[in-house]
Amino acid sequence: MLVSERDWYAWHTEYDQPGSRLARRLDAVQEQIRVALDAAAPGPLRVISLCAGQGRDVIGVLATHPRRRDVTARLVELDPRNAGVARELAAQHALDRVEVVVGDAALTDHYAPLAPADLVIACGIFGNISDTDVERTIEFTTQLCAEGGTVVWTRARREPDLVPQLCDWFTERGFEQVWVSDPEVSFGVGAHRFTGTPSPLQPGATIFTFIGSDRLSEPAN
Ligand SMILES: C[S@@+](CC[C@H](N)C(=O)[O-])C[C@H]1O[C@@H](n2cnc3c(N)ncnc32)[C@H](O)[C@@H]1O
Repeated sequence: MLVSERDWYAWHTEYDQPGSRLARRLDAVQEQIRVALDAAAPGPLRVISLCAGQGRDVIGVLATHPRRRDVTARLVELDPRNAGVARELAAQHALDRVEVVVGDAALTDHYAPLAPADLVIACGIFGNISDTDVERTIEFTTQLCAEGGTVVWTRARREPDLVPQLCDWFTERGFEQVWVSDPEVSFGVGAHRFTGTPSPLQPGATIFTFIGSDRLSEPAN
């Protein structure tokens, strides 16, 4: 596993600046999580979050959502400081079935207990991995996401804008678009609902290599 050089704990401080790009992105992500939970069938719900960071998106919604008691969630995050914040947040809101795992979110084995899940959160990943790995990760969502489940994702709209291609990759794999943010907005947020039948989760597989956007944009030697 490649460890990205950026301080991903410090990265989260922009969330605390009202009106910042990240704060607005969070609003959009939380809205899509809310929409998915509102529409979910009655009964237990499974949620997984890859590269979950401090879990502000899903924990922020579950804190007050009427389905909060139905949800079992697993958040996978590499940085123990971020995982610690996520655990504290979950505890503050008495979300005792929100589990935060410190580990490499690329490893399918982390998701075995909850896949296929009703909600898959892939935020802050697609801008930090190669385009090939974006497509590969979308391929793996057909194992991670239940029929009728939703994938909520983000991808910055930097040029060349990968979002249209990314939406095509979801469509080709049996997803229908629920919502995608306006192309004029600098952040890209989307939600896709899976209409297919999930494939069994491949054990021991690595889904992506988290390179980091800084390294990705470095000119090749
Ligand atoms: C751009 S941030 C997104 C965090 C969160 N999903 C959000 O949107 O607020 C990327 C996160 O991925 C984490 N990360 C990097 N490589 C990882 C890996 N291999 N496995 C799990 N998490 C990783 C970083 O520590 C960081 O918290």
